Amino acid sequence: MSMTTTYVPRQRQWSLEALFEGVSAAEVTCSKEDAMAAEPRLWLDLAAEWDARLLQAHIVEGDRGFSQEFHAFLRVWAEDEERHTEGLLRLYSLVTGEPSDSVRSRLMAREGDFRAVESLFDGEFEVLVLLAYDKAMSTAGYGEDIPFYRSLGPASFGRLLRELKNDEAMHYRNAVELLVLAHSDRLAEVPEVVARAVKFDEAQEEYRATFVLDHATDQFDGARMERVGASVVRTIQRRMRRHLDR
Ligand SMILES: [Fe+2]
Repeated sequence: MSMTTTYVPRQRQWSLEALFEGVSAAEVTCSKEDAMAAEPRLWLDLAAEWDARLLQAHIVEGDRGFSQEFHAFLRVWAEDEERHTEGLLRLYSLVTGEPSDSVRSRLMAREGDFRAVESLFDGEFEVLVLLAYDKAMSTAGYGEDIPFYRSLGPASFGRLLRELKNDEAMHYRNAVELLVLAHSDRLAEVPEVVARAVKFDEAQEEYRATFVLDHATDQFDGARMERVGASVVRTIQRRMRRHLDR
């Protein structure tokens, strides 16, 4: 692996404080019943954001010999996911009325089970392809979630989801960028690695707090995963080809 260009992961800037300024439980205008019906979905999104730190610890503790550039990518990603967690935690607490300390302690009790998904973590190339696919799915998912979140009351809920969606798109871009700069020699393997991730995603019945591949429990079916997977393959390979032609 050789790096011919310096890699700097990009990070969007936005403020959680500004977003939630003046927002109180009084602005949550949905009915009690709607709030209760929304709770499982809100928890799933919140918990998945929280689980980013479980995945980060799992990757870092694995002492995998990944590059400095990969760790730079991971740091920016983890920072963003922490902010996503904080935003969704506030939102969850406002909608359900559960105090944020109580929500936080339930999150802290979570443990990731990476035994199954570890088979997709062979090396840096594989992890980046997996994250690219996962990010492409999350970007689509959050985009579709905006009206649901907006329906709970405050306009800032919809805006929060838009920030999350745009951050996920940036993570996708950061992952693709590093794949192109450091792993273009493995262009031919991209379809197979994406296919493994899609297959795992389709087959997984229970999400195990691993951050990645939580879509079977989400709003997606297999056809959707395959479509997103195909688009990820096209994007990565096109950019790699362009890079190799230079
Ligand atoms: Fe996120």
